[in-house]
Parts: sequence; structure tokens; C-alpha cells
Amino acid sequence: MSWIDQRSDGAIETAGAGPLKTVEAALFREAMARLGAAVHVVTTAGPGGKTGFTATAIISVSDQPATLLVCLNRQSQVMPVLQQNNVLCVNTLGAGEAEIADIFAGRTGIFMEERFKHGQWTTLKTGSPVLASAVIAFDCRIFEVKAIASHDVYFCAVEAIRQGPAGPVLVYHERAYKRV
Ligand SMILES: Cc1cc2nc3c(=O)[nH]c(=O)nc-3n(C[C@H](O)[C@H](O)[C@H](O)COP(=O)(O)O)c2cc1C
Repeated sequence: MSWIDQRSDGAIETAGAGPLKTVEAALFREAMARLGAAVHVVTTAGPGGKTGFTATAIISVSDQPATLLVCLNRQSQVMPVLQQNNVLCVNTLGAGEAEIADIFAGRTGIFMEERFKHGQWTTLKTGSPVLASAVIAFDCRIFEVKAIASHDVYFCAVEAIRQGPAGPVLVYHERAYKRV
């Protein structure tokens, strides 16, 4: 058994420590709404197809080797595509890009490749779409995936970086887009 495993009833079991008792989901979501977090569009392209999703659950793990962590809900239509492609690009959005954030969050009814009709796109090393207007883009290869509760946690090696126009970024705070 790995250090953490998900049980069939959804609870999390740790090796030796027994089932974990956590606060209710609603309380946790309210707490998380108080945090401000940068908004990114995570894209992928390859044999599984081309798509992307809006994400805030992204953090750096290490700078040597340069490693990012990305969390994706397994219910997302992006999940099977990402699993086949094994590459992704984290595009950090500028303050004026709330519309692209909504499109890639599935809030406008636009799906899969259609999402790329908005914005200007290029590629770096892995072939994942890179948003030209992104403040910064991290082109990554996935080297490990861990299923934790409802989400897959992707560990990603950063193979290339593109610096876009500097300036204020888009942040999600108290369930609204804000500029920082
Ligand atoms: C601001 C914001 C942040 C989000 N962060 C994440 C995230 O970190 N991980 C995730 O799996 N979904 C996140 N979502 C939800 C996804 O963007 C999207 O709703 C999900 O991929 C389902 O849509 P799809 O199946 O059409 O791709 C976020 C949505 C918004 C609006």
C-alpha cells in the first residue's frame, strides 16, 4: 500500500494511521474561497487530442529538477486526453483574461479543441498549446500521477518556459476574478 490510499467509500486511509477524519466539504470549500490563487489554463495536445482546463490547484514542488504539481478532477473530460498525451502546458493568465478562464472552465459551453479559437496559440517543446498572451508558460512532461480522493495529482517536469508580456495577473478570490 502506498502512504495514502483512497478507500472505495471515498475516505482516505493512511498506512498505519487508520482512516483520516476531515472537516465537512462545505466548510473546506468556504475556507478555500478566502485564499487568493493565480488562475492558469492547463493545455495538452498529442495522440489523445487537444484540450485544456482552467486551474488554480497548481504549485511548484522543486527548482532542481524544475517540477510543478497540477491537480485535475477525474470527472473532467480533459482527464483521458491528458493521460494519453503525458504532456501539458501551464499558462498563467494576465489580469484581462477572465473570458479565456471561463471558456476553459467549461462555463460557456465550448468544449475540447473549440476552446482554442479564443486567444493566440503557439507551441514550445512538448507540443502543448502555449497562450501567447500568458504572463508565463511552463511547458511540461508528466512523470508521475497519483490518485488522491476525487483528483489526479500530476507531477510535471518543466522542459521549457516562455515569458509573455509582464503585468498584473488574474487571481480567483472569494469566487470572483480579481487583478493583482
Ligand atoms: C477559477 C477556477 C479554478 C479551477 N481550478 C481547478 C483545478 O485546479 N483543478 C480542476 O480539476 N478543476 C478546476 N476548475 C474546474 C475546471 O476548470 C473545469 O470546470 C473542469 O475541467 C470541468 O470542465 P470540462 O470537463 O469541460 O473540462 C477550476 C475552475 C475555475 C473557474
